[in-house]
Amino acid sequence: MKVLVIGAGNMGLTYATGMSKSKLLKKRNIMVLDKSKEKMEEVGKIAHFDAMERLEDCVPKADIIFLAVKPYHAEDLFKRMKHLVNPEQLFISIMAGVTIKFIQEALGIQKVVRAMPNLPAQVGKGLTSYVSAEEVSRLELFMVEGLLDTTGKSLRVKSEKYIDASTGISGSGPAYVFYFMQSMMEAALQMGFSENVSKVLVSQTFTGAVELFNQNNLTPDSWMERVASKGGTTRAALDSMQDNNVNELIKEAAFAAFNRAVELGEEY
Ligand SMILES: NC(=O)c1ccc[n+]([C@@H]2O[C@H](COP(=O)([O-])OP(=O)(O)OC[C@H]3O[C@@H](n4cnc5c(N)ncnc54)[C@H](OP(=O)(O)O)[C@@H]3O)[C@@H](O)[C@H]2O)c1
Repeated sequence: MKVLVIGAGNMGLTYATGMSKSKLLKKRNIMVLDKSKEKMEEVGKIAHFDAMERLEDCVPKADIIFLAVKPYHAEDLFKRMKHLVNPEQLFISIMAGVTIKFIQEALGIQKVVRAMPNLPAQVGKGLTSYVSAEEVSRLELFMVEGLLDTTGKSLRVKSEKYIDASTGISGSGPAYVFYFMQSMMEAALQMGFSENVSKVLVSQTFTGAVELFNQNNLTPDSWMERVASKGGTTRAALDSMQDNNVNELIKEAAFAAFNRAVELGEEY
């Protein structure tokens, strides 16, 4: 099986690297192409995969093609590659907001998987939600899942609506966590800690809390009850968040991302 990744940006290289480190594919069976010659020269130096320069040289050879360019580059790319594709090939798009129907029509093919990764994929801790066109077989889906799992976990969803919804939770979610971390680091600095110490205090708190959450079956609410005693310090903080409606504001933010994903999907 030969895989081609088009777009050697953050995400494209993350998947190419994840696949090259896995045992699923031989390294010589992973091709990467980007329109920037300089980028491909760089990729050729560091990479564990074949750096390609011309669509003509790699598209016809590929069994699976990852589409990892920005959504606004999709139309131009599709025009250039339409005459090179065939109906047996499987396309995995990670382009935010670009629908399966749009890809099928633009390329004249049927087998499309639409996936939504997130940034922690870069460290093998990503979450990729995905949905497929009905023309994709069970066996092909099994392969797709294997490839997506090389950057973390994958989650198959029922429809494209859930791709937009997962954009609001896991896709954009890492930024919400960074927002919270930033606020806590600013508070630590204001309390007199150095920048380095603030960073350690905050990052170890996040890592530890997530680890606790993952290793037990308790809900976040139950954990909060365990940490907060009546009249204590944690209760003071949680009461302050409750009084300021932080819970509702976070939900509102997630829905803002979800709604924006739906809006972007209407363009493609
Ligand atoms: N980053 C994330 O966290 C994230 C999360 C979810 C989904 N995504 C999706 O992942 C996709 C890639 O994002 P990214 O952050 O990796 O983007 P990126 O860093 O901009 O990488 C895309 C690469 O594709 C190249 N490219 C553009 N048109 C091309 C063409 N016709 N042929 C070959 N290469 C072409 C770009 O070159 P130029 O720079 O010269 O244009 C760039 O090097 C996007 O569609 C995005 O919606 C990203």
